[in-house]
Amino acid sequence: MSLAALDVHLTESDASAALRADAAAGLTAEPKVLPPKWFYDARGSELFEQITELPEYYPTRTERALLADSVDDIAAASGADTIVELGSGSSTKTRLLLDAFTRAGTLRSYVPQDVSEAALRGALDTLSGEYPDLELRGVVGDFTRDLGRLPRGGRRMIAFLGGTIGNLLPAERAAFLAHVRSVLDPGEQLLLGTGLVVAPEVVVPAYDDAAGVTAEFNRNVLHVLNRELDADFVPDDFAHVAVWDAENEWIEMRLRATRTMTVHVRALDLVVEFAAGEEMRTEVSAKFHRNGVREMYAGAGFELTRWWADPDDRFGLSLATAV
Ligand code: SAH
Ligand code: AVI
Repeated sequence: MSLAALDVHLTESDASAALRADAAAGLTAEPKVLPPKWFYDARGSELFEQITELPEYYPTRTERALLADSVDDIAAASGADTIVELGSGSSTKTRLLLDAFTRAGTLRSYVPQDVSEAALRGALDTLSGEYPDLELRGVVGDFTRDLGRLPRGGRRMIAFLGGTIGNLLPAERAAFLAHVRSVLDPGEQLLLGTGLVVAPEVVVPAYDDAAGVTAEFNRNVLHVLNRELDADFVPDDFAHVAVWDAENEWIEMRLRATRTMTVHVRALDLVVEFAAGEEMRTEVSAKFHRNGVREMYAGAGFELTRWWADPDDRFGLSLATAV
């Protein structure tokens, strides 16, 4: 009999206050900026799932292949009875892990955490039918602030897949990893997916696909602001822009105003002016090198234990141990 509970560590009013604060700061900044976590309402989560199927978007299928090759090794090295997954989304690739840890005979519970309640509910509905003997406990939460209340005890492995760590800015990333380390006991593990630095000819189309799905995903943040903050953005009047930043080694998504605009964000009592051609950053997706990942771990109190990458070095999967 499956047990699928949902804990809310990020209440609607916390999320609403955080969105207000981020929008107030970001829309008055120079240049304007919005954090990527606000893409993921129900529609944004659905658009992300569509992105994972696009021919140009290689990260998901590359990581899935790496997982397929390595899950039994991961299960043997980890021995975890609890898998906690941050930013779990649809938990699709995670099934490979759940199956391997089940084969290894250690797995008791799976704790997916996501800011998107819609994605989490969808994942729990499916998983509870597929894994009737697994204890499932979903957590609506923000992985940059709600790690302290994740389950303790037993032997845990935290999974953070998809390359989502690259959506954090460098200082946020360091703080996040230190926070993850602080909730683990020595010997417990982190399984991390990281996009690797590849040629701009490969990475740019992955973030600017021919079918325009990524453009819709990008503009979705404006639909979220319209709905949640009573704003009057005209999303179709913003063009999707994806630029490779060679210095920072990240791909940056922006929304470019195609004409001058005056936007009212009524819930904030804020009027925002856009010049024609003005760009607002909505996401960075940093790409890494193996050594950079190793250093990032060392700086946060982890040791890199195992590393897997595809033959084209487009995506890395690594297992790290808390020291
Ligand atoms: N791990 C899945 C989904 C990646 S998409 C995969 O590899 O395919 C990124 C996921 O992280 C989304 O489901 C989004 O809702 C979630 N997310 C983004 N920012 C978050 C935050 N600050 N806290 C928790 N979840 C977040
Ligand atoms: C969730 N995250 C790892 C995705 C990425 O590739 O940075 C989000 C995304 N943005 C555009 N396409 C996909």
